[in-house]
Amino acid sequence: MHASALSKKLIPWQQKKGRHDLPWQQDPTPYRVWVSEIMLQQTQVETVKAYYLRFMQHLPRLQDLAASSEETVLQLWTGLGYYARARHLHRAAQIITDQWGGVIPADLEMLMALPGIGRSTAGAILSLGMKKSAVILDGNVKRVLSRVYAIAAWPGDSKIEQQLWALAHTHTPKTNAPIYNQALMDLGATVCTRRSPQCSVCPLRTICLAYRQQQQAHIPYPKPKRTLPLVEGFMLVLWHEKNNAVLLEKRPAPGIWGGLWCFPECRAPGLSLSADLPKNTRYIATKAALHHTFSHYRWHIRPVIVRATHLTLPKTCQQPNVIWYPLDGTIPLALAAVVRKFLKISIPVDNAAQE
Ligand code: ADE
Repeated sequence: MHASALSKKLIPWQQKKGRHDLPWQQDPTPYRVWVSEIMLQQTQVETVKAYYLRFMQHLPRLQDLAASSEETVLQLWTGLGYYARARHLHRAAQIITDQWGGVIPADLEMLMALPGIGRSTAGAILSLGMKKSAVILDGNVKRVLSRVYAIAAWPGDSKIEQQLWALAHTHTPKTNAPIYNQALMDLGATVCTRRSPQCSVCPLRTICLAYRQQQQAHIPYPKPKRTLPLVEGFMLVLWHEKNNAVLLEKRPAPGIWGGLWCFPECRAPGLSLSADLPKNTRYIATKAALHHTFSHYRWHIRPVIVRATHLTLPKTCQQPNVIWYPLDGTIPLALAAVVRKFLKISIPVDNAAQE
């Protein structure tokens, strides 16, 4: 296939049928593109939009991000998941400010040396944010190239990924790379979708080998499945009714929900939970589990609801990473999403359960 075969078809298609009104396409400075690419790494466009607008409203410039606290950044990120992205973004902004005079470098290797920026994200920043000819290979692009070349494999396999990078380099044009890259992402998101590709309206239909072989529903192959181990755990919802406050602790980073405020994990109720509790507390109930799936295991967490009559802290808790959090929201904190979910099912404690 000729190197320009894709760009010849994709560039006019992008101009007619591609997306032009995404929030990060307005005033696409390197900073704005960078933030959007980090948010879009593991989150869908539709979800990202509102978070992105709010983030830009609070931290419109790189200097604002560098000067803000990690707490503020995590708060703006709450609900997006994969919080290491937010911590890396914040750290990278400080590195750029402290070491590079506040200017985002127009260099692939320098960008890739920053926390949270891989080869494809660096390519997207160079291309979309700086109008350079740079190569991207995110999930959408992998799918499009896998189908065009009928690569019957899982694109995450390192050999296949290498092959896809080579193809991505071959087909990225010297001029109009930003439009070409946006076209690939738009095609992957709106036409060459994972579940039901719309081949009848695809500009690459005539050169797509998967389509010619009618294999578009099977290519690319999904990630080989493995059953994830199940981890069962408990979280202590210690509630002080008079002050309408719950006990939260800041989770250590790195780690699950690192840097976010959460209920303390605890051992099974009825076993040794009481050893962890301060005086003047009363066990109320243990509720049904919430389920979270992480990349390496599934976590079933059950809230253990305990009423406290004094604002004392459990012996095992360490200040300043533990606070009594008032439920009226007067203290703004970056909460783990599980906190809101647990509050909904735990508080107020129903009277029958208290007897
Ligand atoms: N996914 C990753 N980057 C994107 C972008 N710039 N536009 C739409 N979807 C994307």
